[in-house]
Parts: sequence; structure tokens; C-alpha cells
Amino acid sequence: MDVAFDELKRLDRRLQSVELLSPGILLCGYPQEMQDSTVLMRLAQEQRPIFVRHLAPVQVIVCLSNTGDDIGALALAIADLPTFTLLEAGQRFAVQTRLLQTDAKTTFASIGKRAYSSGYVNQLLAGAVTEETGAVESVKKPQIVISLLCTLEKGYLGISLAKDNLSDWPGGARHFAQTSEQISRAEFKLLEALETFGVSLAAPGTALDLGAAPGGWTRLLSGAGMNVVAVDPAKLDPRLARQAHLEHYRGYAEAYLEDAIKRHRRFDVITNDMRMDAREAARLLVEAGACLSPDGFIISMLKLPHATPEIDPQRNLREALRLLSRHYGIVQARQLFHNRQEVTVLTARPLSKQLKPS
Ligand SMILES: C[S@@+](CC[C@H](N)C(=O)[O-])C[C@H]1O[C@@H](n2cnc3c(N)ncnc32)[C@H](O)[C@@H]1O
Repeated sequence: MDVAFDELKRLDRRLQSVELLSPGILLCGYPQEMQDSTVLMRLAQEQRPIFVRHLAPVQVIVCLSNTGDDIGALALAIADLPTFTLLEAGQRFAVQTRLLQTDAKTTFASIGKRAYSSGYVNQLLAGAVTEETGAVESVKKPQIVISLLCTLEKGYLGISLAKDNLSDWPGGARHFAQTSEQISRAEFKLLEALETFGVSLAAPGTALDLGAAPGGWTRLLSGAGMNVVAVDPAKLDPRLARQAHLEHYRGYAEAYLEDAIKRHRRFDVITNDMRMDAREAARLLVEAGACLSPDGFIISMLKLPHATPEIDPQRNLREALRLLSRHYGIVQARQLFHNRQEVTVLTARPLSKQLKPS
């Protein structure tokens, strides 16, 4: 949380931390009240902070009673906001309600039963907004978001452009449905990375998956119709044995890359999910650059271990990103919803058709 707040502070020095509403959710403000947060949100959208996952404006705070009356009070407060005029006929919008399950006042203990669910609030408020404005509810691809965060006593409300929130999902929590074919939970990390960085896996193409076992990412790359080389000394899931156009190099990435560079192998996509120090991973990715097609891209995890006190994960991350920036025109890093002690980085050369320099 501290790192994320520092990132925002670097965008606007006047920003102050007001209250930690729940673990991971910080209410921020300015010394003079009623300062517009739009400028900060636009800056964040341009500069893409790594650790700030989601931003939502608080334009009004509504007193709540944890009864059915709250919905009417929230609907009136939304209609009174100057930003309500953003909601025009035909515009796609979503109501994103989050009911805090823990409360700072009770040292983040559970705060008990709610008189309504977030789904119920979304449904009623979205219905009222559509009726009033003609805007169309679109949960997955909204242009405008009505953000609502509720403790038991207060509702924090604001309306903004979805792109200014840094993520289209409530609180940046991007959930994917589990499927029976799924091999590992790591698959969600790759799906979220592709969506966040706006890149796709195109067939026919070639992919190199470093640190592939048990094979979740390999499954996604193959499933997209790519020819995949999966590199890992460990076994792949037996379900991948039937997969066509898949080669398993059962050894270390370092050895594979040395050989692949000598043989001038080229890949459109390189992925890396190996557990190693961020700087070491960056050095390997620089090397792997020799095997990357001019318009290809790399998606890699950069691990931020924090168990050893003498390791400063933030300094390691900065060094890793600096190294990558010296070799790739495009370097974007984000800590995604599915990342824990790691961040996801995308690198490419400026020639990459899918991407523009950041
Ligand atoms: C987190 S798992 C990868 C999960 C995988 N992305 C998936 O979706 O199933 C990390 C893997 O990296 C592999 N690994 C660690 N160091 C490696 C190295 N130097 N070369 C190749 N693989 C390595 C480990 O054997 C382990 O299987």
C-alpha cells in the first residue's frame, strides 16, 4: 500500500493519505476540500503506475443505515452529482458497488450482516440510471463507471470515465471463470496480462514458454494455435502430451537460450514465469531478445521476494526495469490482481505492430 501511495504522490505532491478504509483500499484527499481528482486520474492513466491497481473518485459521501433505505439515498446522491451529465443516452455504463467486509474501526474485523448485496445495489441503481438517462448498462465494457464503496456507515460515491480508473473491474479485481481444462491457477496471470497490456496471441505464430511446468501458460499458447516450445526441467501435465505443435525442452532456460541463439530461432511471443530474482530474470530476458521476432513481445513475471531482510525488492525491481528499458523500446510493468509477490512486465521493440512506445 505504501509503494502504491508513493507512486500517486509522485504524480501529485499535494495528495494526502486520509484513511485506510480496508486492507489495500486507501482514501486519499487534498488539503483543500473539493479538489477535483480528474487531473490525478488522467496523469495516472498516462503514466501507468505499477502498484496502483484501481482509482475511483469520491465526489460525495453518503450516510448509510444498513437498511433498504440506503439504496434510495444513494440513487439521489448519484443523480445530484455534476458528473451525472456524463451519462448520456446510448453511453455504456456500469455500477460497481463494493461492500467492505472488514472495517478499519474494528481493526479490520468482519463487520457483520448486510441488509443488501452488491449485486442487488448494482441492479437497482443501474435500472434507475437507465430509466433517467437512456445510458445502457454494460458490466464488461463500460465507458462510464459509477463507483460505490460502502462501509456500514458511509457510501463513497463518484462517476468517472472507465479508462481513468486504470481497470474496468470493481477495485481492479479481474476474475476469470475456472474451467475443467485449466492446468494451473497461473493461467489467470497470463490472461490478465494479455488483457491489461492489450496484446493477443495470434495464430499461426511461435511461442517460447520459459519455466513452463506444469503447463498452464503452454496450454493457453497452444490453444491459441501457436507452435510452442515449453522449457522446464519439470514434467508437463499429461494432458499436454496430446497437444500438437508442442515441444517440451526438459532442461534449464539458460541452456535452451544459448542453443536457440546459436541456431537463430525466432519467436513471436516469449513468456517467463520462472521463480528467480527480478534482476536475474531481466538479464535473461535481454538475452532472450536475440530470439524475439522484431514485432514480437515478451510477457514476464518479475518476482519480488521479501523473506530476506537484506534484499530490497523495490530496488531490485527498479534495476530490472532499468536494464530492460536499455534494451527494449517498450517496457510496461503492472502488479496485476493475480500477482502476489511479483509484478508482470511486458517488453517489446518499438517495431512491434501490436504496441506503441509508452
Ligand atoms: C510458477 S511455475 C510456472 C507455472 C506455469 N507458468 C504454468 O502456467 O503452469 C515456475 C516453473 O519455473 C521452473 N524453473 C525455475 N527455474 C528455471 C530455469 N532456470 N529454467 C527453466 N525452468 C525453471 C520451475 O521448474 C517451475 O516449474
